[in-house]
Amino acid sequence: MSAGRNTPLPPNATIGILGGGQLGRMTAMAAARLGYRCHVYDPADDSPGMQVSAARTVAGFEDRAALERFAHAVDVVTFEFENVPVASVELLSRLVPCRPGPHALSVCQDRLQEKRFLAEAGVSVAPWRAVTSRAELDEAVVALGLPAVLKTTRLGYDGRGQAVLRSAADLDAAWERLSPRPLILEAFVPFAMEVSAIAVRGVDGTTVTYDATENRHAHHILDLSFAPARVSEAVAAAAREHAARVAAALDLVGVMALELFVLPDGTLLGNEIAPRPHNSGHWTPEACRAGQFEQHARAVAGLPLGDTERRADAVMRNLVGPEGMARWPALVGAADVVVQLYGKAEARPGRKMGHANLLLPVGTLAGLPDAEIFAQI
Ligand SMILES: Nc1ncnc2c1ncn2[C@@H]1O[C@H](COP(=O)(O)OP(=O)(O)O)[C@@H](O)[C@H]1O
Ligand SMILES: [Mg+2]
Repeated sequence: MSAGRNTPLPPNATIGILGGGQLGRMTAMAAARLGYRCHVYDPADDSPGMQVSAARTVAGFEDRAALERFAHAVDVVTFEFENVPVASVELLSRLVPCRPGPHALSVCQDRLQEKRFLAEAGVSVAPWRAVTSRAELDEAVVALGLPAVLKTTRLGYDGRGQAVLRSAADLDAAWERLSPRPLILEAFVPFAMEVSAIAVRGVDGTTVTYDATENRHAHHILDLSFAPARVSEAVAAAAREHAARVAAALDLVGVMALELFVLPDGTLLGNEIAPRPHNSGHWTPEACRAGQFEQHARAVAGLPLGDTERRADAVMRNLVGPEGMARWPALVGAADVVVQLYGKAEARPGRKMGHANLLLPVGTLAGLPDAEIFAQI
């Protein structure tokens, strides 16, 4: 019952998901509604995804025997976590269709490859330099000026593995903290807003996008998303077009998010690609007929894609750590708010425990002052 190139998976087929976090959990829940079973593979037992799935494998991402058993137990493989080793996805892809495939994964795992790829796909990026030695850091600072952002090229998330350099005095400490890993120095982007655009690409290349989302971070972790982004129609359309173009250039099957900076004059600069459902798309299941998790399951299973039209305005708030959970009792009882928790036992600081979506009539968000929004979410 394996997925042929363009034949949809029949109901009751099994989707294998590498990674057991909340993105896998919500994908598994959406896939179940479509009649599929999910088999979650993660090194940690009782992960959020496993709690809602038909089957689980608890094993390391480099355990070849476990990967082979997993490949034989599922009909198609996807991932919800982009730091799965590419070699493991290559191994799986010789045994079972992997959507997205190893190439898309490898581009998104490395900030240098990602920056080159975005530029080739026609998405401008901030000036950057690769940094592999202390001397190269000095050269890069001369070339790009300060402030600038020094990042590890791999394995960064939620602002981990990066340092903002504001003056020459910051260089030594940042270098000490982040080296000897390969690094990238990026010019600091004086953005007016951060937005993201989510594209979904099916097995036949059909691509749909959601309305661009406006994102605000707190302590480098996504705090709030506003849909639609409060930008001009031209900027919103350009963000969606960029995401669709990048998904096609990656030959991606599934959901993909493109994070972008909006400059004060409306210019868009690409920041990161996530080849999977994204935190900034958490408003889509409640505001659209087909949310990002259902779309991911549809694309991976080879089904026709669903409708992305936004039927409500929405504000999504992440519930992070103990402070986030302190909001939960009020939010779970609010009429226009939909809350999800991820099943994580311990609310450690900085840990994403759940999220809440405030739903508003279409067209009303842009005119609402912050104080009125935050009185509700
Ligand atoms: N070059 C930059 N200029 C200004 N702000 C940046 C820059 N790079 C990152 N940031 C800020 O840090 C956040 C996290 O950086 P990002 O590259 O998206 O890494 P990750 O999301 O993997 O932690 C961004 O959303 C943005 O707010
Ligand atoms: Mg990011």
